[in-house]
Amino acid sequence: MSEQTVRSRPWLTTIFSSRTELWQPPPIPFEADIAIKDGKIIALLEDAPVSSADEVIDATNRLVLPGGIEGHCHIAEPFFGGAKLADDFRSGSIAAACGGTTTIIPFAQQIPGMTLRQALDDYHAKATGEAVIDYGFHMILSNPDKQMLGQELPALIADGYTSFKVYMTYDGLRMEDNQILDVLAAARAHGAFIMVHCENDHCISWLAEQLERKGDVGPEKMGVAHGPVAEREATHRAISLSEVVDTPIFIVHVSSHQAMEQIAWARNRGLPIHAETCPQYLFLSTDDFSRPGWEGTKYICSPPPRDPGNADHLWRGIQNGIFQLVSSDHCPYRMEGPGGRIESAGELHFHKISPGLPGIETRLPLMFSEGVMKGRISLQEFVAVTATNAAKLYGLHPRKGTIAVGSDADLVLWDTEREVDITHDMLHDNGDYTPYEGRHCTGWPVLTMSRGTVVWRDGEVLGQPGRGEFLHRELSSAVKSYAG
Ligand code: URP
Ligand code: ZN
Ligand code: ZN
Repeated sequence: MSEQTVRSRPWLTTIFSSRTELWQPPPIPFEADIAIKDGKIIALLEDAPVSSADEVIDATNRLVLPGGIEGHCHIAEPFFGGAKLADDFRSGSIAAACGGTTTIIPFAQQIPGMTLRQALDDYHAKATGEAVIDYGFHMILSNPDKQMLGQELPALIADGYTSFKVYMTYDGLRMEDNQILDVLAAARAHGAFIMVHCENDHCISWLAEQLERKGDVGPEKMGVAHGPVAEREATHRAISLSEVVDTPIFIVHVSSHQAMEQIAWARNRGLPIHAETCPQYLFLSTDDFSRPGWEGTKYICSPPPRDPGNADHLWRGIQNGIFQLVSSDHCPYRMEGPGGRIESAGELHFHKISPGLPGIETRLPLMFSEGVMKGRISLQEFVAVTATNAAKLYGLHPRKGTIAVGSDADLVLWDTEREVDITHDMLHDNGDYTPYEGRHCTGWPVLTMSRGTVVWRDGEVLGQPGRGEFLHRELSSAVKSYAG
């Protein structure tokens, strides 16, 4: 039994999860002491009796915010293209914690021949004894059949795996429209929340073939083969499939304003379409591909960063509630060495480079600095798109994503005046670069607490591997009124 108090200015974050749902007034920031017992917040007090606490954390001149919830990251997935993912649950969760995140929900990928349950058992084995913060799993679905959709899926939902991703591209993962309809119908029947990777596979492979014939395969061609039209079309199609079945979906890693406009169109029609964008689409652009040699390949992800003017549109999408989340899509590789991107690609060819960027530790500082400190979004919107909305959409609210009595004491102290130039040396993932090298941030998370335990403080990792717990998640707030 331990009692703690955090003296500070907490930010209560019961906030709207999207503007088509019940709107709640933004919370007012106030100064208070946060009393914590057994990992839970037990009181918010004007003046706590600190002498009775075992530990008092002084948060004077700090902002105390809910820990970030990372709803899109790839950790210890067996493969993505030829390169090996750099992070395991230890390094990935430590990097997350050091960047102010207290919950991660990576993907569990089903290897052909495995049942969904076997794939999850595999991921549990990888996470147990390793994770320093709490975690859940989204399951990636491929090859859906009657047994999977009729029996495995409902059993998994009952066990707390309530969100599933489907792909419209990538050999081995891609589903045809009729398969997606089957998945959506099962999701509607059982209460699953379906996340969709929207890119038109045929457009991509056709365009890639044209480029290959000309030998025009530099990193900048990623933005041509995976152009905005391929993303826009697939986004509209996913919306239409969701409309046919009348069930909500979540569109992952939206990169282009063209795709965003489809989502805005759907939401204006009252359709239950939810979406996220990612820092790489706000802070990187096609210009980064033209860096010399292999440098340009560091920015390859799918969908790729877009033209420099695109990011302004996406910021408007965050401001207008078209995006409910900003997630990292952390998908870290090493460039150098065995299993690295260079060796596995063999040649400088945009489609031979495993797609994905690291970003689990830089997501919150970048969004805080470029969003809140530069006045693009309010502090409330920052908390909503990085924590509270994820808790709601992924069935963790109010246990996570808010500072409220009864919630887990997942708190982050922010030094809003700290000036930091990001370098890979200071980060904790197991990759060997950051796409944000040299970028300046104002504001940085200086203490991260997970269920009352300080796991990161003033540059020191304090969380013990294995202390992170698996989270049985409830149904998404998005599907509750649709399921059944
Ligand atoms: O390029 C990306 N985004 N890699 C990760 C896989 C995915 O589709 O999210
Ligand atoms: Zn994806
Ligand atoms: Zn991803």
